[in-house]
Amino acid sequence: MSFPQFTLLLYTIIHAVTFLKFSLGADTLFPDQKIVNGQTLISQNQMFEMGFFYPGTSIKGFLGIWYKSTPDVVVWVANRNNPITDSQGVLLLIARNGTLVISRGGGIIWSSNSSWPASSPILQLLDTGNLVVVDKANNTSYIWQSFDYPSDTRLPGMKMVDNPATGEEKYLTSWRSPDDPSPGDFIYKIENHGLAEVVILRGEMKRYRTGPWNGIYMSGTPPRTPSFFKTNGVFKKDILISILEPYNSSNIERVTIDQSGFFQRYRMSERGDKWNIVLTIPRDPCDYYAQCGPYGVCSIERVPICECLKGFSPGGQGDWDWSGGCTRIRPLNCENGDGFLEVKGVKFPDMLKFWLNTSMSLGECRGECLKNCNCTAYANPYLTGGGSGCLMWFGDLIDIREIHGVDRQIIYIRVPVSELANTDISCLWSFLVLLDLLGYACNYKTEETSPLYISAWLWVSSDLIEPGMAIMERKQGYGANGCMYERYKFAEKRPVMSSVLFMLANEEAILPEPKEPGFFTETSSSSNEEDHISTSEESKKGSMTISDLEAR
Ligand SMILES: *[C@@H]1O[C@H](CO)[C@@H](O)[C@H](O)[C@H]1NC(C)=O
Ligand SMILES: *[C@@H]1O[C@H](CO)[C@@H](O)[C@H](O)[C@H]1NC(C)=O
Ligand SMILES: *[C@@H]1O[C@H](CO)[C@@H](O)[C@H](O)[C@H]1NC(C)=O
Ligand SMILES: *[C@@H]1O[C@H](CO)[C@@H](O)[C@H](O)[C@H]1NC(C)=O
Ligand SMILES: *[C@@H]1O[C@H](CO)[C@@H](O)[C@H](O)[C@H]1NC(C)=O
Ligand SMILES: *[C@@H]1O[C@H](CO)[C@@H](O)[C@H](O)[C@H]1NC(C)=O
Ligand SMILES: *[C@@H]1O[C@H](CO)[C@@H](O)[C@H](O)[C@H]1NC(C)=O
Repeated sequence: MSFPQFTLLLYTIIHAVTFLKFSLGADTLFPDQKIVNGQTLISQNQMFEMGFFYPGTSIKGFLGIWYKSTPDVVVWVANRNNPITDSQGVLLLIARNGTLVISRGGGIIWSSNSSWPASSPILQLLDTGNLVVVDKANNTSYIWQSFDYPSDTRLPGMKMVDNPATGEEKYLTSWRSPDDPSPGDFIYKIENHGLAEVVILRGEMKRYRTGPWNGIYMSGTPPRTPSFFKTNGVFKKDILISILEPYNSSNIERVTIDQSGFFQRYRMSERGDKWNIVLTIPRDPCDYYAQCGPYGVCSIERVPICECLKGFSPGGQGDWDWSGGCTRIRPLNCENGDGFLEVKGVKFPDMLKFWLNTSMSLGECRGECLKNCNCTAYANPYLTGGGSGCLMWFGDLIDIREIHGVDRQIIYIRVPVSELANTDISCLWSFLVLLDLLGYACNYKTEETSPLYISAWLWVSSDLIEPGMAIMERKQGYGANGCMYERYKFAEKRPVMSSVLFMLANEEAILPEPKEPGFFTETSSSSNEEDHISTSEESKKGSMTISDLEAR
């Protein structure tokens, strides 16, 4: 063997030995050991690696954890706010009391915050990517773990937390730039203001929100079929305490909030050497917070994507300026009668000012909303139990978008009754039900000109169904849409279909002078026993009307 060859061999051996010192099965660091620049811990399954790194073109150093097969994907950074500016002599060690320390020349650059002192601590990089300090003498729980201090990445097994009771909060914060892991502008977190949701924030400003939890899913993100991934949420009294994805060794995924404010879900390729994006949020323009302004509704299926709710018109200058959202065409008329527009299949507006009662029915909710002139909308907050609870909004309704497959999410938006009359919301359907002689009258006040009013008046007093004809049953109750209905069952004399259609089609037809309904005589067809019941005050004054029914 020639001298150069020998030198090369020697060099290779020395290099290999140095290299092997930490990378051969070394997932653990003991108190008498240290990690210097270039040395790493590697998790037992060879998935994760921990050591010092220099992101991109940065000359600043950080202690981090990355995937061994894709080293530029860093999942955790220890000293985000305390970069190493001079890598000479920098080292990581675990102190005898269990504290992790990055130091240089005797000075401490960064240290961990252990919950209690350990007697025999070790540092270990787990197969999940969690870097933990355990006490060998008492390893019942971790003294410290990197999973408690998320950077911009959530790994399976890592919790996001928002616990108002304890003040505990864990969320993701973007890097400032690809070269700079210090905390950037964007945050991805659980928010428990009102109903729980998950949001992307830029500073204090919302950039995206999932929409409130409806008891089954976040209202703006209906579950897909087949479901891509499992995320477990822990709720305590409707407060979303934590979100966790279970670790699954056969499905390597990670989620991050990137420098530009995008939430990204990545899945590792089968060969384990690259990452594919499986989900990006915001997904489309309608996902951007308040895209269409107050009272605007966003739908990606039309151009322009913004539209005003019925009864509202664009407030902005041109068709394309939606920053101002929409304003009411006609003012509310709280004293003399407002109604509600039923809007289905939308992500509920942001809960800027709201009132929530989890036990009230939709009918009670409607009543409460009508009583308070500042209430702009109400809904069942929960889909569970066929719809439950009462959520009322006050002030502007912001960030509404249409979503496929959430038809059960219905919000009732306050508008003057005159706006409701313009949409004939279901009117025919009401009459078809009437034909079955199951009459419904929504018991709210209306303007006398509305065709609904006319129809109702006809119904109670005209020749089609005469006062005094046999009513077998009269009941009051709340319908699924929150309307208070009066329900009548007649014994005979059904209205003729052609007459009903004529009424609907000819709103301005000259109508026979209605007779004052006064008292109805209820006659039981079987016993002929007579009884007298009074109609409601509204109908006596001629202001009873029929409203939309729940079905369409
Ligand atoms: C643990 O040891 C480190 C290094 O000696 C020291 O800086 C730190 O204050 C100690 N922490 C506690 C809680 O004693
Ligand atoms: C360390 O822990 C103490 C007590 O739990 C806490 O008050 C302090 O803010 C923590 N420091 C850091 C940097 O997390
Ligand atoms: C934890 O303690 C148990 C029982 O003493 C032992 O079997 C196990 O190996 C320990 N784990 C670690 C990581 O030290
Ligand atoms: C182990 O540590 C936990 C947490 O500090 C403590 O509650 C428990 O008493 C310890 N067990 C022993 C045997 O020291
Ligand atoms: C783990 O992921 C694989 C592949 O996606 C899936 O088939 C399996 O059901 C998952 N296991 C668990 C426990 O979720
Ligand atoms: C919610 O509504 C129910 C039924 O109306 C009522 O008994 C309860 O006091 C309300 N709770 C709150 C917190 O307002
Ligand atoms: C409605 O809002 C106004 C202005 O914010 C406030 O002064 C008033 O008290 C509110 N009314 C009710 C019934 O909440």
